[in-house]
Amino acid sequence: MKPVSEILLLSSAFLQKKGIERAKRLSEDLLAHFLGIKRIDLYMQFDRPLLDGELIPFKEWLKRLGRGEPLEYILGEVSFFGCLFRVDSRVLIPRPETEVLVDLVAKRMGNATSLWDLCTGSGCIGISLKKKFPQLHVIISDISSDALSLACENAKRNEVEVAARLGDFTSVMEDKVDILVCNPPYISSQELLHLDPSVRDFEPHLALFGGSSGLTFYERLSRDIDACLNPQGKVFLEIGATQGEAVKQIFESPIWKKRELIQDYSGKDRFFFLEKQ
Ligand SMILES: C[S@@+](CC[C@H](N)C(=O)[O-])C[C@H]1O[C@@H](n2cnc3c(N)ncnc32)[C@H](O)[C@@H]1O
Repeated sequence: MKPVSEILLLSSAFLQKKGIERAKRLSEDLLAHFLGIKRIDLYMQFDRPLLDGELIPFKEWLKRLGRGEPLEYILGEVSFFGCLFRVDSRVLIPRPETEVLVDLVAKRMGNATSLWDLCTGSGCIGISLKKKFPQLHVIISDISSDALSLACENAKRNEVEVAARLGDFTSVMEDKVDILVCNPPYISSQELLHLDPSVRDFEPHLALFGGSSGLTFYERLSRDIDACLNPQGKVFLEIGATQGEAVKQIFESPIWKKRELIQDYSGKDRFFFLEKQ
């Protein structure tokens, strides 16, 4: 039998030995989730004893963390823009910067009646926006049938109805939309060399790499977008922190009345907004 305080110390030391960063925080998150309490409440329950037998599944989780697997895949869910999404190795783990993108879309929604979440992955963008704007017709699409089936499951979990389309990029689009949101794969071959192993070894490569320059999907979108977007339509893209100027150039065309690079909270170019004539 061991108290919570000792389990935390042992777990944190185990993860540190395995070279895992933020070992203390990860141990706390894992144990709190395991006990079904908030992380902050661990501190009130430091003396709570746990039987060795009770800890067997926790130890399995800890071993997975020790192998570098992201916490979110182990817990199997992530909170995003007020919704809970199931996540596993079929989909990219939704990132906090993508929540900022969703917030931006929400603030600039205007009178839009239709929205397409292209490259939907877990469905986090389209589903959370449908939850906030129930009148909106939302289409989600992805080339991965595995990702799309998880996105559909997430739509059900969050009690929203969206239209799901499986296929290669813009080829799935039948009608023009008012808003297109896309967080495409945008990691370049160069960045691949410096990628965190927990991303490189666990997240789906189909969700990560955007060709040698990382810009392939922006180039494709710039060619296809006119046929997919209503007049006065808006486009919201997530981009890599160093890709701002290149993306701006890719979308240089008279069809746009506005092209705007937008920064994340750390001041890096992270989003690109377009408004059609
Ligand atoms: C960076 S992830 C974004 C996932 C999710 N939208 C998010 O923000 O967390 C990119 C997604 O694009 C999908 N994808 C990759 N190539 C594609 C293609 N040619 N057509 C459509 N989707 C594609 C991947 O399967 C992956 O789910």
